[in-house]
Amino acid sequence: MSDRIPEDNVVGLARDHEADDDQPGALSRIAQHRSSRRQFIKGVIASGAAVSSAGYVFGGLGARPARAVTGAVERLISLNVNGQVRRVDVVPQETLAMTLRYKLGLTGTKLGCDRAECGACTVLVDDVPHYSCSVLTHAMRGRAITTVEGLEGAGGELHPVQQAFVEELGPQCGFCTPGQVMAAVGLLKANPKPSIEEARVAMSGNICRCGAYDHYLRGVMRAAGEA
Ligand code: FES
Ligand code: FES
Repeated sequence: MSDRIPEDNVVGLARDHEADDDQPGALSRIAQHRSSRRQFIKGVIASGAAVSSAGYVFGGLGARPARAVTGAVERLISLNVNGQVRRVDVVPQETLAMTLRYKLGLTGTKLGCDRAECGACTVLVDDVPHYSCSVLTHAMRGRAITTVEGLEGAGGELHPVQQAFVEELGPQCGFCTPGQVMAAVGLLKANPKPSIEEARVAMSGNICRCGAYDHYLRGVMRAAGEA
C-alpha cells in the first residue's frame, strides 16, 4: 500500500490531526507530503511548458524539431497537399483541418461541428473522402491530400463537379459547398456512373443547413453525365 495521501484529503487530515496530541509527527508528515506534491505538480507544468516552447522555437528556426530537443514526437513533417510537398510544424494532437486552415492557409476547407457530424471539412485522402476535423495530421504522412483548392484547373476553371453544382443551384449560403464538392468528387472517382441512390448515400455524410440536398444531388448526377 502506498502512503500517498490524496490532495483532497490533506486539509481534512490536517484538521483531524490538529486536535490529536498523541501524534505529534502527523502534521509535519502531512506538511512534507503537501510540499513534495506541490513540487511535483510544479515540475510537470514546467516541463510541459518547456516541451511546448522548445518545439516552437526550434521548429521555427528550421533546426531539428521537438524530437531532438525534448524526446517527444517529431513535429516538423512533410505533407503532400494538392500535389505539393509542404513542410509544416504540427503538434501531436493537431487535426488535419486545423493544419490545412491555420498552418497552410487552405481555408476552402470549412470547420462546422469539429466532431465528425456535418461534413463541412471533407477532403480527399488518397482519393477517399475524409472528415479532416477527425483525423490527426501526423497520421497523414505519406498520404495524398486533396482540398477544394486542389480541384482548380490550370486556367482557373472550375472542376466539373463545381460547374454542375453551380448549374443546379446547389450553393445557397455556400458554407457546406466545399465539403459537398469533395464528397462528390470522391464518389465519382470511385464510381463514375453512380445511380441516384448510390449518390444519395455517398452524399449523406454532408449536412446542408440551407436544405439544398436535392440541388446537390442533381449536381452529382449532372457531373456524372446522368442529367
Ligand atoms: S467540421 Fe468536420 S464533420 Fe463537421
Ligand atoms: S448551402 Fe448553406 S449550408 Fe449548404
